Amino acid sequence: MSEKVYDVPSQWAQKAYVDDAHYQSMYAASVKDPDAFWGEHGKRIDWFTPYTKVKNTSYDPGHVSIKWFEDGVTNVAYNCVDRHLEERGDQVAIIWEGDSPDESRKITYRELSSAVNTFANVLRNRGVEKGDRVTIYLPMIPEAAFAMLACARLGAVHSIVFGGFSPDSLAGRIADCGSKCVITADEGLRGGRKVPLKANVDAAAAQIEDGVDHVIVVRRTGGKVDMTPGRDVYYDEAAAMVTDECPAEPVNAEDPLFILYTSGSTGKPKGVLHTTGGYLVYASMTHQYIFDYHPGDVYWCTADVGWVTGHSYIVYGPLANGATTLMFEGIPNYPSVSRFWDVIDKHQVSIFYTAPTAIRSLMQAGEEPVKKTSRASLRLLGSVGEPINPEAWEWYYRVVGDERCPIVDTWWQTETGGILITPLPGATKLKPGSATRPFFGVMPEVVDAEGKVLTGACEGNLVIADSWPGQMRTVYGDHERFEQTYFSTYPGKYFTGDGCRRDEDGFYWITGRVDDVINVSGHRMGTAEVESALVAHPKVSEAAVVGFPHDIKGQGIYAYVTLMDGVEPTEELRKELVAWVRREIGPIASPDLIQFAPGLPKTRSGKIMRRILRKIAEDQFESLGDTSTLADPGVVDDLINNRQNKR
Ligand code: PRX
Repeated sequence: MSEKVYDVPSQWAQKAYVDDAHYQSMYAASVKDPDAFWGEHGKRIDWFTPYTKVKNTSYDPGHVSIKWFEDGVTNVAYNCVDRHLEERGDQVAIIWEGDSPDESRKITYRELSSAVNTFANVLRNRGVEKGDRVTIYLPMIPEAAFAMLACARLGAVHSIVFGGFSPDSLAGRIADCGSKCVITADEGLRGGRKVPLKANVDAAAAQIEDGVDHVIVVRRTGGKVDMTPGRDVYYDEAAAMVTDECPAEPVNAEDPLFILYTSGSTGKPKGVLHTTGGYLVYASMTHQYIFDYHPGDVYWCTADVGWVTGHSYIVYGPLANGATTLMFEGIPNYPSVSRFWDVIDKHQVSIFYTAPTAIRSLMQAGEEPVKKTSRASLRLLGSVGEPINPEAWEWYYRVVGDERCPIVDTWWQTETGGILITPLPGATKLKPGSATRPFFGVMPEVVDAEGKVLTGACEGNLVIADSWPGQMRTVYGDHERFEQTYFSTYPGKYFTGDGCRRDEDGFYWITGRVDDVINVSGHRMGTAEVESALVAHPKVSEAAVVGFPHDIKGQGIYAYVTLMDGVEPTEELRKELVAWVRREIGPIASPDLIQFAPGLPKTRSGKIMRRILRKIAEDQFESLGDTSTLADPGVVDDLINNRQNKR
């Protein structure tokens, strides 16, 4: 734990939207009377029909139901585009920085409007209507934002699949939500390397029983791809056939906006469903206050739109606020490890939001690649995705921000839609490694294993006692799983899956997942998913996967694998298994370490004791706990003796 505290600089307290006194009073009002608070702040977006009801939510076991602004009618694309045209039609909405430093584009709100309307007409021509699901499998190009907003304009529901997922993973996600239309690109481009997106879509579609009806292909690299006549169309060719006027469909506040698949501790990924009104109010309000966004700022979030951070804080929050948002196609170390800082100087970025894993990997290159850039435009830094270790925080603060820029360490989840625990830069003193305090309307509690609410300084599991507008509404197609996953561990409360500590100041320190979810470079991975990929290999009889501490990635993937009788544990097979998992799930799930284990530690009833496997992967041989209840305690020694070394 770091003892350091950074007070709010006085010019921040004066200029930011809220100072500490303001935070205290607004927070108190928000939890005392959520109806009044959100009733007022819900007006920050435009409504075609204003709501008369604000909060209608229940966490009661068996009856979990979450509705906000339920009788309001609006449209997300209207709010992110049309309503800005009069005042800032010629302001840049999206700055796009390509993979190569020689490529960039600026898109004004007026141009964005034309692009979104055109895209919506292309979809509409292919039969996409309100409520239909559309899968988006695109690289970080402006068309990704156009496609999202085009869906929103029609009232269609997008499901974005990150470009790093395999055809198998893509197929599962297309089939689960029944998308008939997929939007992709010929190829993606990252760090100079091509990603065969269209070929992956073809492979995925081939696995789906009824296939898909339409594949819209954006030309990114111009690479040659197979086009299936009648199903596939190049976006530019389809766009040339339509106008750039398409009315924004009136959408109910509780109509779905998007589905985003995320990993849990069991089973296949869940389709997290977010709806329209509450989500947009929450994304836009958090974006404004947490990043202290003012007109004229250039705001850059380095996430990919394939993750929730890209949804809420590249596209929806910033654009709802009429902001200038930067979209980056590339990676932090291409063509050099100065890339982030070069882009900040090139586009005069003032607010920069990235992940601890990126900071840690850039830290390794030393200060020089940062120091040779100016970064004078920066005024605020942000962090998201995993706990930031105090060393990385200090480096980010001192080297990147020149001790001038506050850091907002924002804790949230795919499920929460927006940031829940975070400093506000004009209000909250900073403690490196702490996400600090709840945002308005958020009621965190720390509970022990039995669900007893702990008070004062304490450590336990993090739950949220009541709903906020950005909360997910259900698991697509499986409301029971939604209740089971989030509301059954501590009945009546939303269980986050995270552990946390609260200190004497009431500040929250997230300690990481307490379930079988691991966080690899800020990407969420279910150990069960990696296990089922491994056991699908014909030579594998059993597998158990745990996380282990990794200097750059935060956590790495450690797999214990038991082979079929008679199969030789070779180095070659190890490589084959890594390649197999990459193919099954995607490169982001590649195991870092594979240990061949003739036996796994099991209880007499056959349950794998993961606690022991976790400790071995963490090198904590001394604290394995009681192993006497194992069916065969002898396996533990073998596991320790053959522990794989960290790379
Ligand atoms: O464990 C927490 C960690 O990331 C998880 C959520 O992952 P995902 O749904 O992929 O969303 C990531 C981006 C919002 C959380 O349960 N996490 C996220 N932000 C932080 C964090 N852990 C500590 N500090 C954070 N700032």
